[in-house]
Amino acid sequence: MTNSFGAPGSDRRYAHIVGWGMYVPEKVLTNDDLAAFMETSDEWISSRTGIRERRIASDRETSAVLGLKAAQQALQVTDILPPDIDLIIVATSTPENIFPSTASIIQHWLGATNAGAFDLSAACTGFVYGMDMAAQAIRSGSINTALVIGTETMSRVLDWRDRGTSILFGDGAGAVILQTRAERGGVLSSVLRSDGAGFDMLGLPTRGSTEIRSADGLADRQLHKMYMAGGEVFKFATRVIGESVRQAVAKAGIKLEDVNVIIPHQANQRIIQAAARGLGLDADMFISNLERYGNTSAASIPIALAEALQNERIHPGDHIVLVGFGGGLAWGSVVVKWGLVQPDDSTAGKIREQRRRAGYAIVRIRTRLRQWLRRISETLNALFGAQHPDDH
Ligand code: UT7
Repeated sequence: MTNSFGAPGSDRRYAHIVGWGMYVPEKVLTNDDLAAFMETSDEWISSRTGIRERRIASDRETSAVLGLKAAQQALQVTDILPPDIDLIIVATSTPENIFPSTASIIQHWLGATNAGAFDLSAACTGFVYGMDMAAQAIRSGSINTALVIGTETMSRVLDWRDRGTSILFGDGAGAVILQTRAERGGVLSSVLRSDGAGFDMLGLPTRGSTEIRSADGLADRQLHKMYMAGGEVFKFATRVIGESVRQAVAKAGIKLEDVNVIIPHQANQRIIQAAARGLGLDADMFISNLERYGNTSAASIPIALAEALQNERIHPGDHIVLVGFGGGLAWGSVVVKWGLVQPDDSTAGKIREQRRRAGYAIVRIRTRLRQWLRRISETLNALFGAQHPDDH
């Protein structure tokens, strides 16, 4: 699927990134911590991947909790109220449920009472897919404001006996708010691709908390844990990144020389270096935070974007490319022309911040009340017995 939004003469509605945020759990797991319980070393992990540590969610931190915190930060930057959001897309491979969606949970917690919400499954490319979907909805005129979140608790689906995968991943969330603007810019183009023939190279067959034994002789395979053929995925990634970036850049009507910053999915520093070589670009143009967070799957690109903005690596007028790749196999790129976005610290902005906080508190109180009422009603039913329709 290919979309070009910036072509001269096309309709004048552009989807600009106006808010961004990120959240990572406090708990840090270093390479040395891993080496304490599996046969590996800081030297092996850092030289082969660039990773030195990753964050691990606490028991209370689910993907929705991490995503909510990133979304609240994004709302604060753009200074809009949750009811102004029209659509929430959550890219995740580690939702709390098959349904209800993590997106619906976050929608409720935010108090985004006018938003549609759904989860998007495209593994590590999910955030790029979500950006494209949201930008299209804005471009078509059907919505004005979209919240796109990438959030993962990968630590829950890792097979800690498999040193080939468990050393790579970490937990975290990132979010952006896209909004309609008349000036040309924002998401200019996208290129999304998939090759399901590679389904067995990287995957998470099912969800569940108990070990599942299959009947077909794969006795010990944990179907609710992630598997990966690392070497094969490495080759696939280095092949598709350059191709995908070139295609998206051409669709945007710009040249590779016009690109200022590339934000790749954070999978492996050697993959990023190979992509830079393949594109003939300086490796410094690629944002990398692998060292601190490892691979956070669908969350890695929005986290890297939020940090790049915080570190002033992106400036108004810059062209940035987000490029994702991973399970599916799926991959894709979007080109964004950065607009003139300034965080609002006016008095009106501070009042709206108070209103947002009050809204979050009201949702928390209402949710608690509903839980208590349900518990009281269950207790009463258990004590006095609920009447069955057949009793009449
Ligand atoms: O987000 C989705 C996309 N994912 C990716 O892009 C990941 C792509 N793949 C990779 O990043 C790399 O393939 C890995 C980091 C997973 C593996 O690196 P590699 O250079 O391909 O190593 P390898 O699997 O070829 O293993 C080399 C050696 C093997 O030992 P022998 O057979 O040469 O004796 C492994 O058993 O390293 C051994 N090894 C380890 N040693 C210490 C594998 N994992 C470890 C480990 N610690 N954690």
